[in-house]
Amino acid sequence: MKHSTLFLLSAFASLSLASCSPDKSPPVAPSGPAVPPVKTTANTAYRSPATNAPAMRNPDINMPSNFDKASGITFSRVAVPGPYVAITFDDGPHASNTPRLLDMLRARNIKATFYVVGKNVELYPGIVRRTVAEGHEIGNHSYTHTKLSGLSNDRVMSEMRKTDDAVFNASGVRPRTMRPPYGALTQTQRQMVHQAFGYPTILWDVDPLDWKRPGSSVVTSRILSGTRNGSIILVHDLHGSSVDAMPATLDGLLRKGFRFVTVSQLLSMAGTAQASAGPSAAGGPHATGD
Ligand code: NI
Repeated sequence: MKHSTLFLLSAFASLSLASCSPDKSPPVAPSGPAVPPVKTTANTAYRSPATNAPAMRNPDINMPSNFDKASGITFSRVAVPGPYVAITFDDGPHASNTPRLLDMLRARNIKATFYVVGKNVELYPGIVRRTVAEGHEIGNHSYTHTKLSGLSNDRVMSEMRKTDDAVFNASGVRPRTMRPPYGALTQTQRQMVHQAFGYPTILWDVDPLDWKRPGSSVVTSRILSGTRNGSIILVHDLHGSSVDAMPATLDGLLRKGFRFVTVSQLLSMAGTAQASAGPSAAGGPHATGD
């Protein structure tokens, strides 16, 4: 014991000596113009997906996402020619729930749309960058998650601009669509935002009220029973209990034959079916915790 302790001590001593000894070679100076580092953080919340059983997979869907800006200003559901749906996640990014959800989506080859809050984007830019890198879409959900319909035009524009910039700074892309917190945005404001940013206002037609934490199985059954072709499904990745409900929900929708696309892909299909979507379609600006 004594010998081995001594040996360990001397080994540590020589290690620390080695690490303290001056390096003979001169330090390499950085070359080229100084580039400010991208403001981001390490993604410490990343975990490999659970591998208990092979998850069902969404097929690869190579579909354009360059929707026609003239196709409408408000959508709560889109008329599409097949079993396509868009699942949307609001109020993030969240430090642990969003990465956990991203693992679930990746295991199933599902692309989703994230309506992010600008302040949270600035807290977790690395998560937004991962979200974009994995093929998901980002939407603008305001900067402070306030009720926009009571604000001046200037304040509304500022909420949109700051979030648009935060998303761009984090990920290099800009949001394509917006969703007002609580679904609250006047028709005049919707037109103003559409004109200035090109954002259509995206509401939803499937609302499981997951933010009230009714339990995973209730969230799942509400979504499975409410989803139709062209549905826009509202969930909140801010809440762990909502994310808990996603494996069964996603697998259930895949089993029913639904195919997941992003909101922009869904919009790019608008007009390819007979009916048109808009504010009068199913759903609408429910005053809920979106
Ligand atoms: Ni919200």
